[in-house]
Amino acid sequence: MSKIYNKRNENFGMKSVALPSLVLCFTATALILITGCAPKRGLKDVYGSYFYMGVAVSPQSLSGQEAVLINQQYNSLTPENAMKMEPIHPEENRYNWTDADSIVNFAQSNGLRIRGHNLCWHEQTPPWLFVDANGKRVTKEVLLARLRSHIFTVMQRYKGKIYAWDVVNEAVDDDSSKFLRNSPWYQICGEDFITSAFRYAHEADPKALLFYNDYNTERPDKRDRIYKLLKKLKAEGVPIDGIGLQGHWSIYEPSATDLSDAITKYASLGLQVQVTELDVSVYPWEKNKRELRPGESDRFTPALEQKQAEKYAAIFKVLRDHKKEITGVTFWNVSDRHSWLDEYPVSGRKNYPLLFNQQLQPKKAYQEVIKF
Ligand code: GLA
Repeated sequence: MSKIYNKRNENFGMKSVALPSLVLCFTATALILITGCAPKRGLKDVYGSYFYMGVAVSPQSLSGQEAVLINQQYNSLTPENAMKMEPIHPEENRYNWTDADSIVNFAQSNGLRIRGHNLCWHEQTPPWLFVDANGKRVTKEVLLARLRSHIFTVMQRYKGKIYAWDVVNEAVDDDSSKFLRNSPWYQICGEDFITSAFRYAHEADPKALLFYNDYNTERPDKRDRIYKLLKKLKAEGVPIDGIGLQGHWSIYEPSATDLSDAITKYASLGLQVQVTELDVSVYPWEKNKRELRPGESDRFTPALEQKQAEKYAAIFKVLRDHKKEITGVTFWNVSDRHSWLDEYPVSGRKNYPLLFNQQLQPKKAYQEVIKF
């Protein structure tokens, strides 16, 4: 560019060259500053006027290239495992704060907001939780007292630092003929564990936004049962602010209509909606563990890459159309280098569900998400 400019000015006398050269010099510097040194626009910037863009992390992702990518792309973090009951509260009288603290410290020093995940779930529970010293099931009173003490201890440690919590995770059954999941929480406390968890959470940190979080939230039959639960909670005056659609989706589902209808239905209860654990598997949804079948491939073919890009495009179109109801979208893991879906539920099978590939480079799906 400067070459052309100089050539154009070759015939000018000394005096007339001085001013354009100065202008050129400033323009070039400005260009370098804008294109070269300024950080690249990330998802958080592209979606700045829509919703927060977040990612679930382990402490291992918070250094090196992954940390650079996180800061470039996201403005919100969720601890993938560190705040779940088993890792953070392994024994009744012992908490393990190391991993959770390191994520909170990273988020705070980089100006990222934090979603807490989670306070009450039937999986990844510590062995002591449901039994007494003799291994006998505890009573409802004891279990609720343990829940209260857990919620108070964790939430108060991070009070003012965590803006939203997944309070209850996955309480609704997968079986369409049932309502609530027959978990130890339910067996011991009945429905009260849900209302109690929200009330304790609100008491522990009245400013935190409180979410119910679940998967397959847009399959009409599960959607309607989750809606029934949320409606009941609202009618009883339970302090709940939002619903988390986990968003463990695939190239096969949900359809744009099912996703849009679900958002509209939940939001009609006056709840905000977040996508809390987004990934788009390249395989159909399955939950039961199994081995890879002979002849079954786990190659990320160009056809799968294309289908995934189209699915991501369709999902984000719906999310943008619902920007009034959606307040945050969080991806579950940073890149295809590591996803919880590797080996799950099929051992030996790799998955490719995220926007960045194994080299941390943006995939076709990423280009679709930022193109609007
Ligand atoms: C559920 C939980 C998450 C996580 C995923 C799998 O969606 O809410 O915390 O365990 O399963 O990683």
